[in-house]
Amino acid sequence: MTACIVGWSHSKFGKLDGETSESLIVKTASEAIAHAGIEPRDVDVIYVGNMNGGFVRQEFHSSLPLQTHPDLRFKPSTRVENACATGSAAIHMGLNTLAAKKARFVLVVGVEKMTELNSAQAGEVLIKASYVAEEANIEAGFAGIFGKITSAYFQRYGDKSDALAKIAVKAHKNGAKNPFAHFQKEFAYEFCRTPSDKNPFVAGPLKRTDCSPVTDGAAAVVLTDVGTALGMKQAIAFRAAQHVNDFLPMSKRDIIKFEGPALAWKQALAEAHLDLLDLSFVESHDCFTSAELIEYEAMGLTAPGEGERAIHEGWVERDGTLPVNVSGGLKAKGHPVGATGVSMHVMTAMQLNGSAPEGMQLKTAQMGGVFNMGGAAVANYVSILEPLR
Ligand code: COA
Repeated sequence: MTACIVGWSHSKFGKLDGETSESLIVKTASEAIAHAGIEPRDVDVIYVGNMNGGFVRQEFHSSLPLQTHPDLRFKPSTRVENACATGSAAIHMGLNTLAAKKARFVLVVGVEKMTELNSAQAGEVLIKASYVAEEANIEAGFAGIFGKITSAYFQRYGDKSDALAKIAVKAHKNGAKNPFAHFQKEFAYEFCRTPSDKNPFVAGPLKRTDCSPVTDGAAAVVLTDVGTALGMKQAIAFRAAQHVNDFLPMSKRDIIKFEGPALAWKQALAEAHLDLLDLSFVESHDCFTSAELIEYEAMGLTAPGEGERAIHEGWVERDGTLPVNVSGGLKAKGHPVGATGVSMHVMTAMQLNGSAPEGMQLKTAQMGGVFNMGGAAVANYVSILEPLR
């Protein structure tokens, strides 16, 4: 255990007309500093997670947190990018900085303002996180990439559309209890399962209800070392933090095996000296429902090809053996890409601190897992968090 989250903040996720990435950064940075009970001058180093300037004209983001307070002027701040795992990448930079004893307090802000573009334009920006030389012409943006992965999975293991619809229903049921979520309403199984005008196919077997939405939002955390954290109001410790990158081209991998995510989970559980079922819950990267299905297998919850058991048998429901995405996940909470990894850590910290919104708070929340993924299982981050005391 080397570092702790001692303050956090989360904006509402959604189509936030009137907000800019600057306003979202300023709001969440100032709230996270206040939540930690420190002063802006106490912050030593800043990291900003922002996936891709292609969504907005303001591409250079690193100094925007300095707008929060004059005392942040001249602090070293860097923008970090690692596709949809950008938020976790920024947190890992903070952990490395603390481990190197280059800072006492690190501020990490993740932000994305996506909805200035329509879905098709956003898809054009997102597809840049594929292996462009081979994959950029796949239709429907990143949904097209996961459409291909889902088709390949169905070819090997059979049609799992029932399981995907159930994963969507679970996400929206949980998201309905999360006031920070983009969508806060439940979706019926029949609606998610059946293609319709309101739920058309987007790519391969994936329908609209299988996709995370295009979302605006930000989240921020303050990190510090364990010794300092012992004297803070709240402290959620990293029991493990692992990062595994795989080859970028899908053609160089058995893409439905999610070997990078599996290795990241294996390394994190080994670092924490835990079994998967020692965790009380997991926030997992459900950019598409089929990603969550394959992640059940990658985290070791089921054997390959049997991920559907976890949803059909209720293991991953909020009252199941291992609740997955009680926040609503990316599917219902939204996926403002640069913010997502930070958001997952904030949702987990809230649960472990007993301060999650009413209805979302789990009765038992002693140990939480986070899996954040950039690209098609390319940049993979697993954190295991627990209260420091
Ligand atoms: N899930 C459920 N409902 C959705 C939705 C989603 N992902 N996206 C939009 N909707 C709803 C809207 O709220 C709206 O509902 P309303 O008619 O009741 O107001 C309706 O669908 C139409 O919204 P619109 O934005 O016009 O839909 P769209 O067809 O342009 O976009 C997707 C839908 C799925 C194509 C888009 O959300 C998308 O591209 N998602 C993937 C983003 C992505 O690739 N992220 C990176 C992952 S690695």
